[in-house]
Amino acid sequence: MTCDPFLKSVNSMPKTLSFTLLVAVLVFSSHQKTYCAEQTAQTKPAKEPHYQIMPRASRDGIGKFYQDREISQVMGHMGASWLERAGRQNEERPDLLIDSLGIQPGQIVADIGAGSGYFTRRLSAKVGQEGRVMAVDIQPEMLAILRRSLTAAGISNVTMILGKETSPNLPPNSVDLVLMVDVYHEFSFPHEMMTRIHSALKPGGQVVWVEYRLEDPTVPIKLLHKMSRQQVHKEATFQGFEFVRSYEGLPRQHVLFYKKSSNDVPTPTSKP
Ligand SMILES: C[S@@+](CC[C@H](N)C(=O)[O-])C[C@H]1O[C@@H](n2cnc3c(N)ncnc32)[C@H](O)[C@@H]1O
Repeated sequence: MTCDPFLKSVNSMPKTLSFTLLVAVLVFSSHQKTYCAEQTAQTKPAKEPHYQIMPRASRDGIGKFYQDREISQVMGHMGASWLERAGRQNEERPDLLIDSLGIQPGQIVADIGAGSGYFTRRLSAKVGQEGRVMAVDIQPEMLAILRRSLTAAGISNVTMILGKETSPNLPPNSVDLVLMVDVYHEFSFPHEMMTRIHSALKPGGQVVWVEYRLEDPTVPIKLLHKMSRQQVHKEATFQGFEFVRSYEGLPRQHVLFYKKSSNDVPTPTSKP
């Protein structure tokens, strides 16, 4: 069917009949136009169906909302030295975080948003020579910093991956555990990223959100770089994940474990 209404000439008809017919045809043709416009809108995929874009971003945000949360700006590679600061050990207790993950030697673990490699190096020791860490970041400069830190530490069981804003570029069904430390709130396409992470997980695999506690005003981190448990849960379940357990023994961060739920994950264009 085309979208042009079909109008026949009414010139040759009696005047009253032709007027009635003209009104009928005009009403029908305007209905056809509306219907065609709706059809066009339905068949043309919306550009970013899961997001709301605001005309103005807040100071640390990008003006784009997902599940009622404004997405934060990405921490630039110029801040890499902050990730490696000496005080981090006491402030965040990365040793407790790594122990809470229950990693077994030989496992394949993805470190999404690896940054300078602060956690990549610690994960590398846990998986051992039989295992592997897939270190993903979207900033080539961060991967260059990471490469230098791995070389300095003599680490050889890490694969570095340049990710995209919409994908970690991990093969399907390839990882036992996905760790996301202080990065998920920066994903500019969280729905697309998590859909791909969902498919990268092996059966029984888990994904771990580590986020600064929004509920605790004493945690000295910018608001958009913090998340509440409730917000993580809202987004994770929307993305097709199921809550497994949490670890709340860190001074500043939630550690929230999810697995693939038995329901199918929504595709990037589908509704909940
Ligand atoms: C605040 S840093 C945290 C680095 C590291 N996880 C840590 O705790 O030391 C966030 C990192 O995530 C990266 N990032 C942001 N969005 C990303 C995405 N969609 N995929 C992969 N990395 C991303 C940034 O480039 C940055 O290096």
